[in-house]
Amino acid sequence: MQRIPIEMASPGMVLGKSIYSSSGNILLSAGVPLTSLYIDRLRNLGVPSIYVKDGKTDDIQVADVVSDEVRVATQKLVKQSFADIQKTKMISMAGAKEAINDIIDELLTNPDVIVNLTDIRTYDDYLFGHSVNVCVLSLLIGIVLEYNQIQLRELGIGAVFHDIGKIQIEKSILTKDKPLTQEEFEAIQQHCEIGFEFLRNQEDANLMVAHVAFQHHERFDGKGYPRGLRGQEIIEFARITAVCDVYDSLTADRFYARAYHPSRALLIISEMIGNQLDPNIVRAFMRIIAFYPLGSIVELNSGEIAVVVDNRKDYPRQPIVRLLLNKNHKPVGEMVEIDLVKKEGLSIIRVLNANDPLLPSIQIIGSRLNQA
Ligand SMILES: [Fe+2]
Repeated sequence: MQRIPIEMASPGMVLGKSIYSSSGNILLSAGVPLTSLYIDRLRNLGVPSIYVKDGKTDDIQVADVVSDEVRVATQKLVKQSFADIQKTKMISMAGAKEAINDIIDELLTNPDVIVNLTDIRTYDDYLFGHSVNVCVLSLLIGIVLEYNQIQLRELGIGAVFHDIGKIQIEKSILTKDKPLTQEEFEAIQQHCEIGFEFLRNQEDANLMVAHVAFQHHERFDGKGYPRGLRGQEIIEFARITAVCDVYDSLTADRFYARAYHPSRALLIISEMIGNQLDPNIVRAFMRIIAFYPLGSIVELNSGEIAVVVDNRKDYPRQPIVRLLLNKNHKPVGEMVEIDLVKKEGLSIIRVLNANDPLLPSIQIIGSRLNQA
């Protein structure tokens, strides 16, 4: 399965992962062959990328860390809560707790889980999909840090509502695809205080939840906003949410930029260690995110081209790969899989993107493998 930009979709490709609307309806199911009508419809709905089956890696099962059902239900709840708070200043904390508990339950059933998929959402649903994904990623860090159930739930609620103040910010500023003016930037910055005020006035919300909204744009070096808190002055929940917020923004398609591959996003994050982000939290995060998600096509330092077929927790940079092309870029006739943890000296040097000139020759091997 490969993630491709919608512009590269063509009729006959088979959808690898179902696409949902923010109201929870399936727009198109996994397994459906694409037609030009479907592709146009997805494009009109603002779906920026899709997962497609590619014939060469379809035996690799890529599972999300939470089920589609729970992800969609949580996204619906977030959308509803954002609308409620704008209208009545109140949200259903009981509903939020239930949704977060469902996510925690699913994450805890598989303690070795590692994130292999980047979430795809329409441009219109960006804020809601982002909120859910930051919540899921934050909870995974909480689990690495051995939080108990109560801590996990508070962290999850804080993370899912970290950007709730954005509902008061003008949409044209949030979706602007050009650099922001100083005035617009100051307007966006207010979402932290607005979110804090919203959340601290909820009867049954822990104050820590409100502080996640208040502090998630503070930086470890004290150069963040709104108050310029530094290091441990920032609550741990907010330092966790900050890492996930940056990662999810980098790996999602935005109005102004295409999604980065996880390996690129993680390199950017590692450069933020100690200045923008807390080193300990980033270290925990690196344990649960695959640098090279399943299905990534990569070049090894030997010059060979391979596809990632397995990832294990704690070895996010050293997956198991299946060779596709030898160092002269000729197809490898047999099935050879290499565990990069065990093979000293062999490592990944780059990820091939969806329009790499080498990809067509890999398609040929794919169909041969399938016939074998
Ligand atoms: Fe934010």
